[in-house]
Amino acid sequence: MTPIECGIVRLESRHLAAMARLEKKCFAEPWSLDMLEEGLAAPAGMALGMMREGELCAYALLLVVAGQAELLRIATDSACRRQGIGRALLRACLERLEQCGCRELFLEVRESNAAARALYESEGFEQVGRRPGYYVLPKEDALILRRAL
Ligand SMILES: CC(C)(COP(=O)(O)OP(=O)(O)OC[C@H]1O[C@@H](n2cnc3c(N)ncnc32)[C@H](O)[C@@H]1OP(=O)(O)O)[C@@H](O)C(=O)NCCC(=O)NCCS
Repeated sequence: MTPIECGIVRLESRHLAAMARLEKKCFAEPWSLDMLEEGLAAPAGMALGMMREGELCAYALLLVVAGQAELLRIATDSACRRQGIGRALLRACLERLEQCGCRELFLEVRESNAAARALYESEGFEQVGRRPGYYVLPKEDALILRRAL
């Protein structure tokens, strides 16, 4: 099944449990259901997901404020990686942000996260800063990336 055969959906509160399941599978420091709920309920919050055979296989959570957006979370289920899903989801986010007049997108990434960094770099993100010791488990710097829209 190609990413084209996966459907992009706007995520709502009924998807929270599936988002929290992906968090636990994908991150060393997963967001709790409450944190996700807060992000989703925020007026500036936007979340998109990829559905495959009725299951959430990837999701992205963003904050959009005054023409600037921040990508807070993006993850693909480990069973579905390297199939173009993360890229398709990121592109869908970029498209929606452009449609709503957003001018730039920022994100933070672990310096050692080669997979995510390769994805971001190939989609036009550039490093604009660094937060020393930002991550805890394990302790590591965050790189701040930006992409103009
Ligand atoms: C980063 C992540 C979302 C990518 O999702 P994915 O669905 O596997 O991504 P894609 O299949 O669309 O791959 C897109 C590109 O990412 C890069 N990439 C993905 N996995 C990679 C890996 N294991 N090693 C190196 N590059 C990789 C490649 O450039 C790839 O393009 P290519 O397949 O044309 O070479 C996924 O690895 C993930 O969920 N990781 C855990 C959570 C995470 O780290 N999120 C980012 C936090 S900042």
